[in-house]
Amino acid sequence: MANSGSSGLLIWVSSILCLMCLSLGYNPVDNYLIDCGSSTNKSVGDRVFVDDQFYSNLLSNPHIIFANASSSPNSSAYNPSLFQTARIFNETSHYTFAVKKSGRHWIRIYFYPFVFRNYNLSNAKFSVYAQNFTLIKEYQSKVNPEVREFSFNVTSDRLVLTFSPFSNSFAFVNALEVFSLPDELIPPGATTIGPQGSYQNLWEHALETVERLNMGNKAVSPLNDTLWRFWDADGKYLKQSNVEKFLSDIKAVNFSKGVVTENIAPSSVYGTATILNTESDPMTNANVTWLFNVDPGFDYLVRFHFCDILPRPSARFYFNVYIGSSAVVQYLDLLNRTSDVGVPYFMDVITRVTGSRMLNVSVGPSNNVQYPNALLNGLEVMKISNSKESLDVLDSFSPESSKTKVILIVGLAVGLFIIFVLALVLFLLCRRRLADLSHRKAEDDFAMNEGDTIYTAGSKFSNGTPIFSTSKFGYRFPFVAIQEATDNFSESLVLGVGGFGKVYKGVLRDETRVAVKRGTSQSQGISEFQTEIEMLSQFRHRHLVSLIGFCDERNEMIIIYEFMENGTLKDHLYGSKYPSLSWRQRLEICIGAAKGLHYLHTGSAKAIIHRDVKSANILLDENFMAKVADFGLSKTGPEIDQSHVSTAVKGSFGYLDPEYLIRQQLTEKSDVYSFGVVMFEVLCGRPAIDPSLPREKVNLVEWALKCQRRGQLEEIVDPRLEGQIKTDSLKKFGDIAEKCLAEYGVDRPSMGDVLWNLESALQLQGNEGRSSHNGKMTEKVNDRANSFEASVSNAQVSMGSMGELSGVSMSKVFAQMVREEMR
Ligand SMILES: *[C@@H]1O[C@H](CO)[C@@H](O)[C@H](O)[C@H]1NC(C)=O
Ligand SMILES: *[C@@H]1O[C@H](CO)[C@@H](O)[C@H](O)[C@H]1NC(C)=O
Ligand SMILES: *[C@@H]1O[C@H](CO)[C@@H](O)[C@H](O)[C@H]1NC(C)=O
Ligand SMILES: *[C@@H]1O[C@H](CO)[C@@H](O)[C@H](O)[C@H]1NC(C)=O
Ligand SMILES: *[C@@H]1O[C@H](CO)[C@@H](O)[C@H](O)[C@H]1NC(C)=O
Ligand SMILES: *[C@@H]1O[C@H](CO)[C@@H](O)[C@H](O)[C@H]1NC(C)=O
Ligand SMILES: *[C@@H]1O[C@H](CO)[C@@H](O)[C@H](O)[C@H]1NC(C)=O
Ligand SMILES: *[C@@H]1O[C@H](CO)[C@@H](O)[C@H](O)[C@H]1NC(C)=O
Ligand SMILES: *[C@@H]1O[C@H](CO)[C@@H](O)[C@H](O)[C@H]1NC(C)=O
Ligand SMILES: *[C@@H]1O[C@H](CO)[C@@H](O)[C@H](O)[C@H]1NC(C)=O
Ligand SMILES: *[C@@H]1O[C@H](CO)[C@@H](O)[C@H](O)[C@H]1NC(C)=O
Ligand SMILES: *[C@@H]1O[C@H](CO)[C@@H](O)[C@H](O)[C@H]1NC(C)=O
Repeated sequence: MANSGSSGLLIWVSSILCLMCLSLGYNPVDNYLIDCGSSTNKSVGDRVFVDDQFYSNLLSNPHIIFANASSSPNSSAYNPSLFQTARIFNETSHYTFAVKKSGRHWIRIYFYPFVFRNYNLSNAKFSVYAQNFTLIKEYQSKVNPEVREFSFNVTSDRLVLTFSPFSNSFAFVNALEVFSLPDELIPPGATTIGPQGSYQNLWEHALETVERLNMGNKAVSPLNDTLWRFWDADGKYLKQSNVEKFLSDIKAVNFSKGVVTENIAPSSVYGTATILNTESDPMTNANVTWLFNVDPGFDYLVRFHFCDILPRPSARFYFNVYIGSSAVVQYLDLLNRTSDVGVPYFMDVITRVTGSRMLNVSVGPSNNVQYPNALLNGLEVMKISNSKESLDVLDSFSPESSKTKVILIVGLAVGLFIIFVLALVLFLLCRRRLADLSHRKAEDDFAMNEGDTIYTAGSKFSNGTPIFSTSKFGYRFPFVAIQEATDNFSESLVLGVGGFGKVYKGVLRDETRVAVKRGTSQSQGISEFQTEIEMLSQFRHRHLVSLIGFCDERNEMIIIYEFMENGTLKDHLYGSKYPSLSWRQRLEICIGAAKGLHYLHTGSAKAIIHRDVKSANILLDENFMAKVADFGLSKTGPEIDQSHVSTAVKGSFGYLDPEYLIRQQLTEKSDVYSFGVVMFEVLCGRPAIDPSLPREKVNLVEWALKCQRRGQLEEIVDPRLEGQIKTDSLKKFGDIAEKCLAEYGVDRPSMGDVLWNLESALQLQGNEGRSSHNGKMTEKVNDRANSFEASVSNAQVSMGSMGELSGVSMSKVFAQMVREEMR
């Protein structure tokens, strides 16, 4: 009796303990598990997949077609019974899930094509969308059951999942999981391959799990994972089978000593590893390599899981981790990263896969270490949605976007559309002013145009060594690949020409369209080239143009950018055949550009100053979304203890901050000034300097500020905007632009303030002007009476009035630049 009582107590205690164990697991706030097509609930481990009717109220389309597989599929990973039934959609249908916890959610979609009556699910053709993301553009049926896993950040109170069959076809799904993730699982950003590179806006993107491996060649079932993930055994992905050894010691793992939680990966992952086999030769030096098939043209988030579970006693070891041939980290010392053996550690890296369909990951001992070894415990590879918010290869390139559109680009100072007269005038002026300088060479290399970027001339490189000695920056393209992409730099693909060389349109092997900027050794210097690549590989933002790669082989200086369908903002404002942009479009473009600049100024520990903000460096994609381009002149902002950076004056005429011109002190506020010039350009639809106009109007800033201060701003508004702008919106816009152009940097607002004010100008505009297109083109009064002499004096006026230059002549500025170059 006493015995049975105590055993009853034991059962009671152990069931309490068991409940506690369960409650220690992850319990998602939002948790939808649906066994589609099924009429019964199915328990899978500690979870229940409900019958299809249970959530039918979440579905937009009430038609029910349930299908039944005739035989149970084989699935080692997931519970086979979940694949046995399916729901078939004969029309586009949405699931709308209520979301209580914002943040990243997982969507797992189970597919297993079987034949049911007259539906052969293998013939289904459909797309799957979630929110604004394309998860699957055209479903390709696999014979075997599969589970596709996606995640993205849900910020609203609902998550809409859409199954959209192609016409005359249908869609299907066997089971669905939608649940909220722990916040720590996917960080908002991660480093890219490269030292300081980082990818800040990961949270804006959707991810698809491509591979999830447990090293040590042991699969982990979803039932043994707190987040119900399946971890595949790594054996079949290994490149060679003679240098590695599998290890398992799950008890050695101790989460409580570190910061990594079991939600990152369970102990069954951290407790097994694939290591370098040093048994036969303790000095073995080889890499253990895994090979993965991936879709090129996408960025991938690669997560490495480590945990030192080597048998004790064991020597301290240092190893390198590679993706392809680039080192992700060298001399990795797990003990240093974690403080003790058996403590889990993970590392995220983002890499772009171009060209090849392979993603290779290796670990190998560091050079010259006493006890070579290397280990890896787990690996996850997640595809990051592209700029079209798509995860499908079919969306990496859009053939339908028309070739007939005049296409322009990225990263371009303009060059072709310059005001010819002014170019000549300025050139002559420079020559004259520089004549008394003895350095004739510098003088000959020196030419510039209004709006053209001033590059200090003459920087040349001497030998054939690559500019980047190590592959610090990823994305290096072989020269032949670029020759191929641009049809060997075909003249017919030239999109623009500028001081730096030419920009070509190109198509990479994976059909990504790109803009290829090829520097010539006489033009843009190495330092601009390097700066641009460094900046672009560090920063990723919706409103900054993205770097695809570069090439520094054979003395080349080539930068490959994403292709921007609609060219430069400048081209849409004046002097071209594009239809006029509406006021709303113009405001949205300003807001986009301001966001890009705001991000540059505040997105990292040290502000980045663009230094060449102008309408020719604001590019527009196919949706007229603005992206800031051309970082060749960018500079890291002042150190905390300094108020500015002293530097030779560089930038573009018509946009230069007067304070910077005079004192050569650079702050973020110089960009704000230039942005103010752009705002007036946008409002008035004319260049910053237009010598064809009467004297008092030549300099846009001077003229616009005069009108603004007199309260007559509406008189200079681009005639094509006539009747579109609401008074309040115009007033707000004029006020911000004026503040941006304050004489002293301290009086100018920050880009954040500018952004905020622009957004309120957009709000003040309300819904007005969404469609009113006034085709009337500006009548440019080209005053042919302007003689050459008059032009010269106009140009002098314009330069003298770019702010209060008070005695500082342009020749002094030039002389300073030349001196800087001579050093
Ligand atoms: C499935 O479970 C839910 C609650 O979890 C319940 O409301 C529903 O009736 C169950 N369905 C069946 C067919 O038992
Ligand atoms: C198919 O569905 C029917 C009714 O919904 C059910 O009775 C049956 O068990 C299911 N399975 C098979 C293999 O037919
Ligand atoms: C299941 O696996 C067995 C043996 O591995 C194979 O013969 C059979 O065709 C598989 N069935 C399916 C539906 O894949
Ligand atoms: C889908 O199926 C339902 C019921 O079977 C039918 O009423 C509906 O017309 C079908 N829709 C299409 C687009 O075929
Ligand atoms: C179903 O479609 C697939 C692919 O089109 C085909 O290979 C298969 O034979 C079809 N099955 C049946 C039973 O018709
Ligand atoms: C989706 O895109 C639409 C317009 O394209 C936009 O209004 C909406 O805010 C976007 N939703 C999310 C969640 O990004
Ligand atoms: C989700 O997006 C919001 C901003 O919209 C951001 O603040 C948050 O950090 C994101 N969450 C995750 C988990 O990425
Ligand atoms: C999964 O858990 C079960 C017990 O819950 C255990 O027997 C099995 O070994 C575990 N599998 C792995 C791969 O850890
Ligand atoms: C994990 O480490 C903590 C702190 O050092 C220790 O108290 C605990 O016993 C360890 N757990 C295991 C399972 O070794
Ligand atoms: C990856 O490995 C495969 C096979 O060894 C090789 O062909 C390919 O060039 C490698 N790719 C990279 C990027 O290293
Ligand atoms: C390991 O791989 C890296 C990157 O491909 C390479 O540089 C290194 O030489 C390899 N080490 C050995 C021992 O093969
Ligand atoms: C890790 O290494 C750094 C520098 O090599 C050292 O300063 C630090 O104390 C080490 N940390 C641990 C936990 O060993």
